[in-house]
Amino acid sequence: MKHDEQVRLIRAAFDAIDCGRPPMAENFSSNDPRIYASPERAAREREILFGRYPIVVGFSSDLARSGDFITEDMAPVPILVVRGDDGVLRAFANVCRHRGARVVSGNGHGAARFACPYHAWTYDTAGRLTAIPDEFGFAGLDRAACGLVEFPVAEKYGLVWVRLVPGGAALDPAEIVGGLGDDLESYGIGRFAHQETRVVRRRINWKLVSDTFWEAYHIKVLHAGNVGPLFVKNLALFDAFGANHRYIGIRKSIEKLRDLPEEKWDLVAHATILMNLFPNTILVMQTDHAEIYRTFPAGDGISDSTTAISILAPAASPKWARTMDLLLGVVEQDFTIGETIQHNFESGALAKVYYGRYEQALEHFHRSLRAALGEN
Ligand code: FES
Ligand SMILES: [Fe+2]
Repeated sequence: MKHDEQVRLIRAAFDAIDCGRPPMAENFSSNDPRIYASPERAAREREILFGRYPIVVGFSSDLARSGDFITEDMAPVPILVVRGDDGVLRAFANVCRHRGARVVSGNGHGAARFACPYHAWTYDTAGRLTAIPDEFGFAGLDRAACGLVEFPVAEKYGLVWVRLVPGGAALDPAEIVGGLGDDLESYGIGRFAHQETRVVRRRINWKLVSDTFWEAYHIKVLHAGNVGPLFVKNLALFDAFGANHRYIGIRKSIEKLRDLPEEKWDLVAHATILMNLFPNTILVMQTDHAEIYRTFPAGDGISDSTTAISILAPAASPKWARTMDLLLGVVEQDFTIGETIQHNFESGALAKVYYGRYEQALEHFHRSLRAALGEN
């Protein structure tokens, strides 16, 4: 983040601390809880948000060399991303053109070919179908037209995006992150390596996973026993960047900056900087590492979600496993509350929920969802 932007935000944090109130929207707002329980809404989200928007599917550090590949099964279409012999990153449906089996499982390095485990139709790293066993049974089949279905892919800031529209327009990473590019660049996440990912499946709509990040109101209450005491009560700084947004939780340690000249002010050391990469990726910049949460509808797409939680950091260390344990302890508290909310929303007991004037990131997220889905 540019230094003058850090100074602006730190001044805003001091103003809020001094007057005892966080920056706030003009009015409080409300939302309709049926968006978490409606099959129609879930179907539209799947088609539009997960089907047409670029989705983060993995990390550049897993795809550094030719033949490196990752697979992603949480998206509506199973995806294979592989760096070809020519160094070009490509994304495909991980679906065999013969009769639809998954071609590759897991992640790996140095692959030259992918042989389907069912009948061994074989594809190269550019997705071309290179071998059909007993090919005489398919005489006349246009092999060149039976490569893996290809999707547009983009790679920047250490992240890899895929859009599930075959042959669609090329993706522009700067456009995807819309105004957050300078921030992402400045944190050097592109030079971080993927340390660990854990996957959590819970009985909550995917939006409830995201919602837990977009207000600091609950930190002092729900997380009183772990991270609560580290943060200034109910203080976070919100900025919108198109459908994306940034939300910065302020640590109490920020008080140390009061005695320093502004040119020495450093926000990252005294904050947790959260970025929503619309629709479903939350990137959290911590002092010495980044956490990435990617949440997807699972099962019926309504009451079930799968969230992959990853740590990216400059160097491997045993401490990242401990960091992961700690952060899972915190988010488990959110997810446990989230399961009660999901159940209660499905009961139809409420027609409305309320977002306070300092829960404006939450309001922005849901307004962006409505706009993307054509509901506004
Ligand atoms: S389904 Fe892949 S080779 Fe038959
Ligand atoms: Fe939380």
